[in-house]
Amino acid sequence: MDLDTARLTVSDACLALAERLRDLPPSEELRTGERLRREGHDGALVAAAMTLASLRAQARTRLGPRADALALSRAGLEQATRARVAALHADRFEEAGSRLVADLTCGLGLDALALAERGIGVVAFELDPGTAVLAAHNLAPYPHATVENADSLAALARHEVDAVFADPARRTARGRRHDPADYSPPLDAVLDLRHGVAALGVKAGPGLPHEAVPPGMEAQWVSVDGDVVEVGLWAGAAARREGHAALVLRGDEAHEIAGDTHRADAGDLGEYLLEPDGAVIRAGLVGVLADHIGARLVDPQIAYLTTDSPAATPFARAYRVLDRLPLDVKVLKRDLRARGVGRVEIKKRGVDLTPEQLRPRLALKGDAAATLVLTRLDGRHAALLVEPV
Ligand SMILES: C[S@@+](CC[C@H](N)C(=O)[O-])C[C@H]1O[C@@H](n2cnc3c(N)ncnc32)[C@H](O)[C@@H]1O
Repeated sequence: MDLDTARLTVSDACLALAERLRDLPPSEELRTGERLRREGHDGALVAAAMTLASLRAQARTRLGPRADALALSRAGLEQATRARVAALHADRFEEAGSRLVADLTCGLGLDALALAERGIGVVAFELDPGTAVLAAHNLAPYPHATVENADSLAALARHEVDAVFADPARRTARGRRHDPADYSPPLDAVLDLRHGVAALGVKAGPGLPHEAVPPGMEAQWVSVDGDVVEVGLWAGAAARREGHAALVLRGDEAHEIAGDTHRADAGDLGEYLLEPDGAVIRAGLVGVLADHIGARLVDPQIAYLTTDSPAATPFARAYRVLDRLPLDVKVLKRDLRARGVGRVEIKKRGVDLTPEQLRPRLALKGDAAATLVLTRLDGRHAALLVEPV
């Protein structure tokens, strides 16, 4: 966000107007905007307040009720850590006994806020001047949190911190950056700081290659309601273990699995098919999960597990296998027609055909619903008709 718009956004007039516009239905926006301008409000102010009110409404699910007190920008919100995950980050520093944490990439300040709420001191750095203005507003209720508009790698030396947190930017004008060397600041430069502080944490993209995790650190992949949102890299007193872990957050529940990245054995398809949570797969912990529940892979290259008896686990979605069919459109079409299937959920792993390509070719008709899993079994393509357990 440019500096002028950011300053306007945090002005008393804009904040008061955004509060008045809370929960304004999108269909009312045009009319309300015109009315406010007729009442004498400046056009830029009305636009800024409307944007803020609408971003706050969008932010409530991810950021919780505190969204209604925050100064937000669209780009900042897209990158903001959801409240529940930010709280987990802050727990680490609280457990580590951190007194002053440098947040090297504070953005709108959601991670910094979670730390400040626990009474932990925070120096929050933000490179973008407009975003820094918004963060300063968001952290203003906490006198032990300060925001500096600076390149954190250059400015860090001016502060005596005992812990470092970073959530490097993974987007540029050219799109998402997957190579950790392209993060801003680059991942290696941030990780090197672990040698100078008691505790360090970095939020990285879930696709981070395992080789990028330095030996001795903890890497915890986190999923929220089935979406893998990050891998947290933890060092020193912020780490709880060495090696890989997967934290699965679903509703109010939290489940964690940890261990080495050995491969599970593959074997024959059993009565049940299990689709491991994305965090477990990204963490390379499918083998550990297979050991826990006595499962085998359906194919050495594919992350579907199978068992002969039902296995209750929070780390995978379980399905009962109803039928095994060849991955042949004509056969599938005939079979689904015979079953009166009009709606089908299609999952796939290890085959190129996409659900979008297959669905229209099935010409579904009927009232029944089904789940179809396209995969490889014994090295050959197959389609499994399954039902959720
Ligand atoms: C992913 S966002 C951080 C989001 C934040 N954790 C939150 O939950 O609100 C990354 C931020 O880092 C900032 N940034 C990138 N490089 C930086 C640097 N060298 N120093 C300070 N800030 C930087 C970007 O401008 C961006 O706002």
